[in-house]
Amino acid sequence: AFRATYLSVFLGVGYLGYSIYSEMHPAKQIPQSEKTSVGSKKKTLLILGTGWGAISLLKDLDTSLYNVIVVSPRNYFLFTPLLPSVPTGTIDLKSIVDPVRTIARLTPGEVQYLEAEATDIDTKNKKVTVKHTSQSITPGIVQTTPDDIRKTLDYDYLVIAVGAETNTFNTPGVKEYASYLKEASDAVEVRAKLMQNIEAAQLLPLGSEERNRLMTFTVVGGGPTGVELAAEVKDYIDQDLSKLFPGIEKETTVHLIEALPNVLNSFNKKLIAYSEYVFKKININLSVNTMVQKVDNKNVYAKVKQPNGEFKEIVLPYGVLVWATGNGPRQLIKDLSTQIDAQKTARRGLLVDEFLKLEGTDGVFALGDCTFTKHPPTAQVAHQQGIYLSKLFETMAKVENFEYKIAQEDASPDRDTNKIDRLQRRINRTKQNLVPFVYTHMGALAYVGSERAVADLVWGDWSQISTGGPLTFLFWRTAYVAMCLSIKNKVLICSDWVKISIFGRDCSKE
Ligand code: FAD
Ligand code: NAI
Repeated sequence: AFRATYLSVFLGVGYLGYSIYSEMHPAKQIPQSEKTSVGSKKKTLLILGTGWGAISLLKDLDTSLYNVIVVSPRNYFLFTPLLPSVPTGTIDLKSIVDPVRTIARLTPGEVQYLEAEATDIDTKNKKVTVKHTSQSITPGIVQTTPDDIRKTLDYDYLVIAVGAETNTFNTPGVKEYASYLKEASDAVEVRAKLMQNIEAAQLLPLGSEERNRLMTFTVVGGGPTGVELAAEVKDYIDQDLSKLFPGIEKETTVHLIEALPNVLNSFNKKLIAYSEYVFKKININLSVNTMVQKVDNKNVYAKVKQPNGEFKEIVLPYGVLVWATGNGPRQLIKDLSTQIDAQKTARRGLLVDEFLKLEGTDGVFALGDCTFTKHPPTAQVAHQQGIYLSKLFETMAKVENFEYKIAQEDASPDRDTNKIDRLQRRINRTKQNLVPFVYTHMGALAYVGSERAVADLVWGDWSQISTGGPLTFLFWRTAYVAMCLSIKNKVLICSDWVKISIFGRDCSKE
């Protein structure tokens, strides 16, 4: 047993060393070219997005098989599962960000990245119009150059992985006054607002209405995003800010508002009850059956469903408001679905077939949160779909190469039927890999505060484990590090956790 442990530690350290070395010393890339290795025209694969779906595809793809172009306003991948830890400084933003150029550099073929957003997709003529827009980590530094730079790109294959945006349901006031928690800049903005209010409140008399309002952190939406953010903020106040602002833990209110009777509705009932128990224990103010209908610069206006079925209107003052009520389609996706007959009914996202091919189009694929499928809009799904598509594209490239060789042989004066038959058999064998996408659900995890997490885990087809508590919290941390796509981010995340366990979280506004 001692030898086995010794050997596994040795292999583990060796593997880690090798992974770090490979990330830091990428091999030489095959340049983009007009022709493939067999002489046929090399196809252009245009990927829209640098999120979970697009980056999982890119990382896994043999990029030397296509001329790959990636277009996204965000020049980095964002590890969203730990985004709720950023506003409180538990995790440093840079630890969950990975530049797309670094990721692309590690693939076998040269990849072109363009910092731009797709503004129009013409599936009939296989063209995408893009406009240069930067999506900066710092709020406010989202700019376009004075003269808009626009470009039209041709593609042979297009992958749409543009994700979704936070759905405001057109609730009045949300766009003007609320923050979201979707992008890196949102986390920076939430942090700045939180600290700004706390500092401003120190100038006002203790117990005054305005001071209490400024000290109220309100989250609307009790899905995993809202729950994790409320939990992180409450931890921050209780564990760190209380040491710097004595009594702040009694003064501040963390308020979570959910329209349905429970939070975390996709989780097992036992875990919902456990989460609500933890919230009560750590004093997170939870309002369920409460539908927010309007927001102004200081108040949230909501309708509460009473036990007798009647509705009561309430007004809740807030200092910081974060809107986390789930996903809605981006404008690009809404526009695209109106142009394609087979997408006319696609109100919640693009419709794809079992190979992730966009219904009603040729050569277009879509994945992740911009699609509407039987799977939930999660990183887990987008990640598996990205890997699936990389295999699909590799298989398609192989088949196309064989077909090209057959066409060459057919046209040759010394046409060899045996060779054609052999190639045809290889095509048939390769095509056996063109199988539909199958999603393997590994389970769901959420942090609920006070170093406790909940986990709905699935082991194989037969068993499901629902668990919550401090041990689950350790599992939650391990699982998220494992989920992380780069070794650099894994190391940075772990070092952030070590750092805050020694020094605590800092209270600067930035
Ligand atoms: P995204 O990852 O959102 O990527 C979309 C990409 O498209 C971005 O790079 C964006 O800049 C780009 N883009 C946008 N518009 C355009 C355009 N017009 N042209 C070109 N590019 C464009 N899921 C889990 O499974 N586990 C979790 O723990 C988890 N935690 C989460 C925590 C938070 C706070 C949030 C917000 C989500 C979380 N999710 C989690 C859900 C998960 O992040 C999403 O399901 C996942 O990001 C979807 O991947 P995607 O590639 O479809 O979209
Ligand atoms: P969600 O769709 O899961 O939850 C949004 C919640 O907001 C719903 O419970 C809804 O009832 C509520 N709501 C909507 N309108 C409201 C209103 N006007 N007033 C009050 N409440 C209102 O959204 P979320 O949390 O952003 O998650 C989006 C996706 O990302 C989900 O698929 C989720 O599973 C995934 N995700 C997963 C995480 C994890 O696994 N830990 C973390 C974060 C997100």
